[in-house]
Order: sequence, then C-alpha cells, then structure tokens
Amino acid sequence: MDLHFRDISNYCNLTNKIEEMNKQNIPVYIEVGFGSGIVLRDRIIKEKNVFHLGFEAQNIYIKRIEEFIKKHNFENVILLNCDAKYIIPRFIPFESIDKVMIYYPDPWWKKKHKKYILFDLTFIGDLFRILKKGGTINIKTDVDEYFEKIKEMFTIFDYFEETPFNDKSCETNKSTFETNAIRQGRNLNKIAYIKKGCCL
Ligand SMILES: C[S@@+](CC[C@H](N)C(=O)[O-])C[C@H]1O[C@@H](n2cnc3c(N)ncnc32)[C@H](O)[C@@H]1O
Repeated sequence: MDLHFRDISNYCNLTNKIEEMNKQNIPVYIEVGFGSGIVLRDRIIKEKNVFHLGFEAQNIYIKRIEEFIKKHNFENVILLNCDAKYIIPRFIPFESIDKVMIYYPDPWWKKKHKKYILFDLTFIGDLFRILKKGGTINIKTDVDEYFEKIKEMFTIFDYFEETPFNDKSCETNKSTFETNAIRQGRNLNKIAYIKKGCCL
C-alpha cells in the first residue's frame, strides 16, 4: 500500500480507502500538519484499531515518519504529502471521519502569507462536512490571538459545540512546537469541538 500520494490521481484511492474503513466500522482519524510526528507516532502505536491519516506539507517530515512506519510494518496509516486544505474538501467523503487533530498550526504572521492560514470559515465548513455526527476536532495553539479567532469562527457554526479535549496521545506526549512554546513561556491553548447529531 502506498504510504503517501504525490500524484493527484492517487487521491481517488484515498477516498476508496476511507469508504472501505467506514464499511468495516473502523474509526478514521486525521492529523493535519503533524510536523516531526511525535504525537501521530504514539497514536499509530496505541490506537491500532483506528485508521490514521497524517497530512503534512513538508516532505522532510513525511520521510522521517515513513521510515518508522516501514520499520515497524504499520498498516493502519496513510501519510499525505500535500496541502490538506486542498485535498480535504475534494477527496474526503461526507461524514466519514471520527476525529481531527490540529496542533500548533502556523500563524503566518506576514500579510503576504495570510492566504496560507489553515483555519478560516471555509476550512471549518470542510471539517464539518467530513466529520461524522459526534465526531470531534482537537486543537492546540500557542498563539493567543489565533486561538480567539478560531473560537470566534466556531461559534458561527450552530452544529458544533465545545467538548472535552479527547486525544490521549497529545496529553501524554509533547509535540516539538509544544516543547518550544513551553520553553519560551507561551500559553498552551487547547479546545475541542463535537459535531452535534444534526441533519442538514
Ligand atoms: C507549526 S508546525 C506544528 C507541527 C506539529 N503539529 C507540532 O505541534 O510540532 C505546523 C505544521 O503544519 C504543516 N502545514 C501547514 N499548513 C499545512 C497544510 N495546508 N497542509 C498540510 N500541512 C500543513 C507545516 O508544514 C508544519 O509542519
């Protein structure tokens, strides 16, 4: 099985794979921007009954965790070396995902880079579409103003409500950016949302 897909035509395989998991009632989790992959790695080891999708734009991080996956022969994961914002709305089926994790997304401070910012209303809408009813999104950020903005945007969506943070791997491991934030004395903001059992 391919661990990640660089060729766009292969993303149809991704859709099929998720549908296959859904049919077998195997939960599907997504982590967007896993970076050095400390938390994702723990999740792959400890949650073997789950199918994990790891999105990461930087190939260097993909390579690092790919070695670990190959070495231990894990088959419960696909790594995607791509822009999650582009792939998620196009290739992830409606109400197919149980959990989404996004930790320390880049704040993109410069005005010319703002277009790369992950959380905007369109992206939150896309997450809403792919999540199953009762599915959750776990978020962490050390950027206070980004945190406020994210919370503000989520209030617009009536069908999300706050829920307790629910990612054990993130509670028991510190990601690289979390370690840096602690060292530099920044706030560790975290929040989770659940998609209510609504019908659209
Ligand atoms: C600030 S780092 C945080 C990494 C990791 N979550 C941590 O806590 O250490 C943000 C990561 O998200 C990735 N990233 C940013 N935008 C992305 C996108 N649209 N799709 C996939 N990955 C993205 C970056 O390449 C980077 O590795």
